[in-house]
Amino acid sequence: MLSLEDFESIRQVIYREAGLFFADNKIDFLSRRVAMRMAALGLESARDYSRYLRFNQDGTEQEALIELVITYESYFFRDYPQLKMFAEEVLPMLADSQKASTKQLNLLSAGCSTGEEAYTLGIILREMLDNLDQWHIRVDGVDINRRLLARAKAAIYNSRSLRETPNLYKDRYFERTGNDFALSETVRRMVRFSRVNIFNKAQMDALPLYDVVFCRNVLIYFDHESAAKVMGLLYEHMKPGAFIFLGAAESVGRLSGLFEMIRIGNSFLYRK
Ligand SMILES: C[S@@+](CC[C@H](N)C(=O)[O-])C[C@H]1O[C@@H](n2cnc3c(N)ncnc32)[C@H](O)[C@@H]1O
Repeated sequence: MLSLEDFESIRQVIYREAGLFFADNKIDFLSRRVAMRMAALGLESARDYSRYLRFNQDGTEQEALIELVITYESYFFRDYPQLKMFAEEVLPMLADSQKASTKQLNLLSAGCSTGEEAYTLGIILREMLDNLDQWHIRVDGVDINRRLLARAKAAIYNSRSLRETPNLYKDRYFERTGNDFALSETVRRMVRFSRVNIFNKAQMDALPLYDVVFCRNVLIYFDHESAAKVMGLLYEHMKPGAFIFLGAAESVGRLSGLFEMIRIGNSFLYRK
């Protein structure tokens, strides 16, 4: 078990680097994760590890620890009602507004994990847009965790990842390989994945402006201050009139002031 002093020092590093805050009751969890890193590095004491973490210049150890402490569960067509609203309400609005001009659409999956969300957007675009080849579509999936991004690029999924995927799309876009499912090349080539820490302004600056941002089930692990910082950075990367989707558990309060709220049926949408 970490001493309070080491716990404090290690959680500060994580907070500073990635915006994730570990409350006091997470000391057991963090202790177990730190023990894994200590074993990997051959370090005997948590004090040595804490020092190593703070003074590790190239950021590799910070990254390795952050990878171990972040939840990354994802699946295709997560929160179907929200995606239906995106497909049936938002996409037609964006398509209409672009009729006369160049048909350009930039979408971001921020905190994309193993890629299911970004690829789901690709599938929806294929299903919903007429004459897709006349559009300039860019779908970006970004995440802080390189291991997850490598899996996203490989695009091989188990049945858990497809548990909410309608059979029609399963048949149309996936091919069985043993127990797994390989995503079709047509969708794979629509998405580009890159490593971006969305809490880091310099890294966010590499991204373009988006028409739609999905940042779902990412900010739940952030405290109010770092969530507000991320929302501000995402805001800067949205075109005027762009839409943002958050996870169901993520509070509206974090958006206050920045975005206009639109009500469609019983659901709410946020717009720049
Ligand atoms: C629970 S997953 C959500 C995946 C997907 N958005 C969904 O809703 O299914 C959270 C993801 O956010 C990523 N993440 C957490 N903090 C991040 C940060 N500061 N920058 C980029 N990605 C981050 C994690 O690595 C993880 O893959």
